[in-house]
Amino acid sequence: MIHFIIVGILVIVSTLLMGYGLINADLFPTQASQQAVAIDQLFHVHIWLISFFVSLIVVFILYSLVVFRRRRGDESDGKYFEGNAKLELYWTAIPLVIVIGLAVFGAGTLSDVERRDPGALEVNVIAQQWSWRFEYPETGAVSNQLYLPVNRQVLLRMRSQDVIHSFWVPEFRVKQDVLPGDESFVRELRITPNEEGEFKVRCAELCGTEHYAMLADVIVVPPAEFETWVTAQAAECDEDDAVCGKRWVNQYGCLSCHSLDGSSGTGPTWQGLMTGTEMMDDGTPINVDAIYLHESIVDPNAKIVEGFQPNVMPGNFAEQLTEEQINQIVAFLLTQTGE
Ligand code: CUA
Repeated sequence: MIHFIIVGILVIVSTLLMGYGLINADLFPTQASQQAVAIDQLFHVHIWLISFFVSLIVVFILYSLVVFRRRRGDESDGKYFEGNAKLELYWTAIPLVIVIGLAVFGAGTLSDVERRDPGALEVNVIAQQWSWRFEYPETGAVSNQLYLPVNRQVLLRMRSQDVIHSFWVPEFRVKQDVLPGDESFVRELRITPNEEGEFKVRCAELCGTEHYAMLADVIVVPPAEFETWVTAQAAECDEDDAVCGKRWVNQYGCLSCHSLDGSSGTGPTWQGLMTGTEMMDDGTPINVDAIYLHESIVDPNAKIVEGFQPNVMPGNFAEQLTEEQINQIVAFLLTQTGE
């Protein structure tokens, strides 16, 4: 009997130490959405259960090894017993109850995470190798940053232009694959950010050479600040062509592959683009002018700059952009004369 009491106390102490230790060990990123609260609760229950069962097994083994070890001069066999219907009933029934309990709790958490708010803000997410674009259909705004108002549910309607990507913001916990294809392949994800701050969307599906760099800013702001931002993004561009062009190259993710400062990327840098000729991979020099730039946007494989690969730049910008936008981007590129 004394052995049971000692083992019981050791199991309780070990469970408490392990459970508190794991939960307070900062294993999780910041909790920045309502969905994260529900998911973390589920995790915490699992951590407590795991701590208990690991303690139970390890304490029993260690206690037996130490207390019932073979003594010098003792050559007799240990005591053993065979068959115990009561014990077998317990170790079948108790885990069964726990597993059913976890299933019920898990189902409740899932319905919490997927709860629909009719007032949700809709955002279309377009993924392509290797950038993210966010469209706000209520206002017509387009951005390469995901601005969200705090404490309002957002309904992300996601699709891919090419291969499978995956939308993941660790601080929001939820994750969803983003698929190519028609309307029926659009995937939805609901998030209610409950903390202001800056986070990152990380692509969580291996999608090509620049998969690791397929990131986008997520910026959660107060509702008033969000309204100001979304209105500004939605406004028609009535400035100089080059200024508008700069806005499009930001919004459409061009800069995730083409740098403005000469640093190397998936595509050629735009620094000093207009200072002369560019060498193509077949050894012919090309005069950089508006016609070449326009062709490079709508038909990127027509000419490949030396040292770069064909079929890397998406070939569908002619569909994504209006002719006016393309010409404005060309106007912006024509200003890239700096060293
Ligand atoms: Cu997109 Cu990985």
